[in-house]
Amino acid sequence: MAWTRIASRKELPPGTLIEVEHQGRYIAVCNVEGEVRALDGNCPHAGGPLGEGALNGEFVTCPWHMWDFHSQTGACSFNERVKVTVYPVKVEGDAVLAELPNA
Ligand code: FES
Repeated sequence: MAWTRIASRKELPPGTLIEVEHQGRYIAVCNVEGEVRALDGNCPHAGGPLGEGALNGEFVTCPWHMWDFHSQTGACSFNERVKVTVYPVKVEGDAVLAELPNA
């Protein structure tokens, strides 16, 4: 695991969801009321791009079939056994860093 810069804080005002690509891995990054969170960007249902979906409160909604995933736990709203990986995040100055597995 390594801390990796994935975005700038300016790109992520509260209520924002963006998709970030890093070394072939897609990450959904969102700001929930000032707290930045990062999730694996591939939906476990059929691979939809979670970072291109919508942020609804604490949940990231997949744009393909509207499954919701909690942005802090990664759990699907209707089946908690279905999860996306969530990554630790920290903000240093203007940099948003996530602790990602080594590529
Ligand atoms: S691919 Fe995400 S809900 Fe179907």
